[in-house]
Amino acid sequence: MKTYPQPRVAVVGATGAVGTTMVSILSERGFPAADLRLMASERSAGSVVSTKWGDVTVEDLATADPSEIDIALFSAGGARSLEYAPKFAAAGAVVVDNSSAFRMDPEVPLVVAQVNNKAIESHKGIVANPNCTTMALMMAAGPLHKAAGIKSMVATSYQSVSGSGQTGITQLRREIEALGSDVDALVDGTWVDPQGDLYTRPIGFNVLPLAGSITDAGYTDEEWKLVNETRKILGKDSILVEPTCVRVPVMVGHGIAATMWFDRAVDMDEAVAVLGDAPGVELWDDRKVPTPLDSAGIDDVLVGRLRETVGSPGGISLFAIGDNLRKGAALNAVELAELLVD
Ligand code: A2P
Repeated sequence: MKTYPQPRVAVVGATGAVGTTMVSILSERGFPAADLRLMASERSAGSVVSTKWGDVTVEDLATADPSEIDIALFSAGGARSLEYAPKFAAAGAVVVDNSSAFRMDPEVPLVVAQVNNKAIESHKGIVANPNCTTMALMMAAGPLHKAAGIKSMVATSYQSVSGSGQTGITQLRREIEALGSDVDALVDGTWVDPQGDLYTRPIGFNVLPLAGSITDAGYTDEEWKLVNETRKILGKDSILVEPTCVRVPVMVGHGIAATMWFDRAVDMDEAVAVLGDAPGVELWDDRKVPTPLDSAGIDDVLVGRLRETVGSPGGISLFAIGDNLRKGAALNAVELAELLVD
């Protein structure tokens, strides 16, 4: 695999929730970029962003020249990735793509940094960043799988609105203001629907037991990502995954309550030892309950509520939560870019 001492970097979707986080993480981690280019839609083209690499003028992706870029971090939505990532790769860049466009492409490695780093070596110009929910879960599931082989899991997500981008954050803020202005109505059921257009039901003061859109067998695309991406990342197609993806009124932090069973029994002592040593994981004991607010703005995935299964013995239940904009997206993309540096 070709590596670069001082790559020329582009961030595509640089004005979005994930893109802006990518730029700050590149800077925070002292990424050795020779220069940084920023791209977004024509709406943002011409605006100037102050970065560690100087004031950078945002370019219109549609007209930007993809040559002279070594690493391009894409987070501008699947349609842009499908159209432009192959063009950037053909022009010589390695694209780290945060959309779902290429994740299940057998030619494209799907990599969680610190879980399956080696997979990146087979890239042919595009590397996929996993879904933000799968990512947080894999930080805990990966080390346990390495130790004992995961056979099956039941996973329920609690996904924040920033997983839907800036529009998700705006929508929740609006609905909290609108619905929160009459708390009695929330209690007696006379609340008025704020008529948001992003989700099927109100998200303010509510929980939506459906994240994404329904596809096959009554499951949503988000739920199928949890099934298929888990299998691809852990390299075992036979893992049984029973997913439910839920949207919650939280700005940042995707949590997953998961119960896993293995090729052999795993007890608490072993799970604590494995997760206590897992890179990028902070293991919290029962008195310290990890929540989305704790996960916001930090790099580690928090894992807590560790328990041995009581119904079907030999398994482990846990709650994992990670900042979906950081490890769930931008941080992992930058960590993958770091694997491409000499
Ligand atoms: P822009 O801000 O110019 O619309 P988010 O996921 O937070 O909504 O961010 C999406 C990112 O993708 C933004 O940077 C947005 O740019 C960018 N984007 C959206 N549509 C396009 C497009 N047609 N071409 C290029 N970039 C786009």
